[in-house]
Amino acid sequence: MTLSISLTINGEPRSVAIDDPRVTLLDLLRERLHLTGTKKGCDRGQCGACTILVDGERVNSCLALALSHDGAEITTIEGLAEEGRLHPVQEAFIAHDGFQCGYCTPGQIMSAVGLIAEGHAHGDAERVRELMSGNLCRCGAYRGITEAVLEAEA
Ligand code: FES
Repeated sequence: MTLSISLTINGEPRSVAIDDPRVTLLDLLRERLHLTGTKKGCDRGQCGACTILVDGERVNSCLALALSHDGAEITTIEGLAEEGRLHPVQEAFIAHDGFQCGYCTPGQIMSAVGLIAEGHAHGDAERVRELMSGNLCRCGAYRGITEAVLEAEA
């Protein structure tokens, strides 16, 4: 049976047919909607590469069933830049070398945008690391990532 859900993705209303109730938001975004900025790392909720915002909250999209999100507002890395200008968090990651190979970067940036909106970091590097602990970086670019988040939060 095919069901249809409505999503707003990066500000655009979309109606999407779901023919497999097990499809995740991650697979829907990447394979059906070709929004491949969101990365698949572990596919089991452990690395954070797939982080997106769902109704403003940070979510591991590999763990989120698409069918459970009818009506949701989704923001992916593709939706951050506006009118050709990078988002301040993206600018801060560039300024502080908050990446090396770049694979985890979309998830890191989406997580940073979410945590800054949550308002719990309070300019504290330790707190930022704790709040970003769900986003792993195999290259170990944590210093630059933390500095970027602190700058973007200020
Ligand atoms: Fe979703 Fe790793 S791919 S947490």
